[in-house]
Amino acid sequence: MINKNELQHLQKALNILEEGFADLPEFTPEFEEDAVATVLSEVATRMQDNYPYYHPLYAGQMLKPPHPVARMAYALSLWINPNNHALDGGRASSAMEKECIVEIGRMFGWHKPLGHLTGGGTMANLEALWVAGKMQPGKRVIASEQAHYTHSRITDVLGIPFTAVPVDEYGRMDTGALESLLREGDVGTVVVTMGNTGLGSVDPLPEVLKLRQEYDFRIHADAAYGGYFGLAGNLDAVTTESYADLTNVDSIVIDPHKHGLQPYGCGCVLFKDAAVGSLYKHGSPYTYFSSAELHLGEISLECSRPGASAVALWATQRLLPLEENGEFAAALGRSIAAARLFHDKLSASEHFVPLMPPELDIVVYAVKAGDTHAASIKARELFTNAAEKGLHLALMELPTSLAANWLHDIEATTETVSCLRSVLMKPEHEDWCDRIVTLLEECVN
Ligand SMILES: Cc1ncc(COP(=O)(O)O)c(C=O)c1O
Repeated sequence: MINKNELQHLQKALNILEEGFADLPEFTPEFEEDAVATVLSEVATRMQDNYPYYHPLYAGQMLKPPHPVARMAYALSLWINPNNHALDGGRASSAMEKECIVEIGRMFGWHKPLGHLTGGGTMANLEALWVAGKMQPGKRVIASEQAHYTHSRITDVLGIPFTAVPVDEYGRMDTGALESLLREGDVGTVVVTMGNTGLGSVDPLPEVLKLRQEYDFRIHADAAYGGYFGLAGNLDAVTTESYADLTNVDSIVIDPHKHGLQPYGCGCVLFKDAAVGSLYKHGSPYTYFSSAELHLGEISLECSRPGASAVALWATQRLLPLEENGEFAAALGRSIAAARLFHDKLSASEHFVPLMPPELDIVVYAVKAGDTHAASIKARELFTNAAEKGLHLALMELPTSLAANWLHDIEATTETVSCLRSVLMKPEHEDWCDRIVTLLEECVN
């Protein structure tokens, strides 16, 4: 059920907001209430055509409902509709964004990073690789074969050469293969993915840092998905070391609209060395007059951006500070625990075979069959059957060479194999694991 109590809190907050403008001569914007109500009912009906993302039986893609405080703060700020490009467009929300950045930076042990929010992970990575390209002109960008496809696309947009490096059986960047590429002498930036999109695997950052002692390159961490997991107290030892080393990279992307409980439209890019801000220098004949203080548009490629995103994030970080052992961290830990439990249950099943143990909260699993062709057909059928029973999963097409490390009794007859994939982003998934596996068993039968 949708919890509608939020609306009362929003109304109270709106009254407080209104007090700030009480000195103005009376003016109340009007709208045609009946017509609006009619359209809104139509919108509500149209919006029923969605998967139930907020419900634990949605165990498919990376989709997580925003925290109620984020949703309400976002909505509240729309009565102002601030624009975080220049201070002229949103003084309070710009200040809130700068405070959020300080706190996110602190999570990585960075005390004076340069950073700002973006429309999402793609825009944030674009900025990081744009800066990387300026710092290492003419040199290649390397990311793993399991890195988000955005890196090859972005480098294409930026005109930077790109090479994908193979992964090991855990889906992590193969550092032997990386070193072979580094020896070629033209690598300017290595992108490490802290929680890749498909498998949730975390690239071995300590080993990449060791290579940096010998070869000169920048390190950009795409932590769009996994950036917050360093707070969770239950990562395994290898993953913990990679997260501890995040403090030593040059730039980080983290998406509050993934695990940070935010509505969409909230990514974030951070640079350890604030001096890269000079690369953004541009003239604008229209803006930046209202204050000598930094306008966020002076250090970002996007111009207009929703101040609402900063307001929502600020409210969330205020309620749930980014600290180890806090409530926010505990919820991330529960997602990891859910994924481990799910993996164990699938391992014990006679119908499924899970791939690598989850490093974060993503589990990829095949349906048992004689060969990869039959396993792919079964996975696709199960995806559809499960949805009919209200259980929503995702599919992933994996190179058989990678999956075969885990699918011992399934003969490799195809180049790729379709597997099922569940991103267990909601802490409640831990309590729903039994029910999800029972439904899976029913569907496969
Ligand atoms: C690791 C990683 N990087 C980048 C992106 C792209 O982020 P966005 O969809 O917010 O543009 C994603 C999205 O899933 C991701 O998982």
